[in-house]
Amino acid sequence: MRLVLVGPPGAGKGTQAEIVAGELGVPKISTGDIFRANVSGGTQLGLEAKRYMDAGDLVPDEVTNKMVAERLAAEDAAGGFLLDGYPRNTEQAEVLDRMLEAQGRALDLALELTVDDDEVVRRLSGRRVSKSTGKVYHLEFDPPPDPDSDDLYQRSDDQPETIKNRLKVYAEQTAPIVGYYAERGKLVRIDAVGGVDAVTERAMSAIRADAE
Ligand code: AP5
Repeated sequence: MRLVLVGPPGAGKGTQAEIVAGELGVPKISTGDIFRANVSGGTQLGLEAKRYMDAGDLVPDEVTNKMVAERLAAEDAAGGFLLDGYPRNTEQAEVLDRMLEAQGRALDLALELTVDDDEVVRRLSGRRVSKSTGKVYHLEFDPPPDPDSDDLYQRSDDQPETIKNRLKVYAEQTAPIVGYYAERGKLVRIDAVGGVDAVTERAMSAIRADAE
């Protein structure tokens, strides 16, 4: 199964990608996670990406597309994948289609997670991540064992001004890919409001229905 998850920042893409990829037995490929690992590791790619990420802007396409092409060429992606955070504009969607076509493959489904802006702000401002395990918590919806622990940090792009810009970038640059996939009959939209388990159930039902 070859899937992409589309949705605004904080829609729960990372949370659902982890679970759904596990259920489908395919690797979860998150461009945001790959960029953050490079920022932490101080690589050239990380240095290049950091200023865009801190501002809530998209990292340039040539950097992102090359990184994704390399990741999709890895052996574990041969049997399918779940992309989280890519594509993020129409150009990236076209590049992905061409990449797959060159390998005689095609995307099966684009799953859109819908939430409104107030919920996005609530989810992103309460998000905390464990330094040691990478686990993502939410202070209210999925509280960490010790909310005051030094092990927890807040992502640098989860500040109010950056969240505002990320939502603007989503509306202007990413939302058009919803139409791109709808025109090609590949879009399924699910309501991403509600508990994590309920959203997973909706996602899995949509994926199963599409596969029939
Ligand atoms: P990226 O990491 O992809 O960020 P994003 O798309 O803005 O999404 P988030 O990771 O913020 O949110 P999410 O939807 O995964 O939500 P989560 O599951 O964590 O990208 C970061 C940056 O990298 C970009 O701004 C850009 O600079 C760059 N980048 C990445 N990809 C790129 C690309 N293709 N091209 C160019 N640049 C790129 O959930 C959020 C919170 O809500 C958590 O605390 C969670 O616990 C909680 N939560 C989750 N589900 C629920 C629920 N059902 N109910 C209540 N709370 C919930």
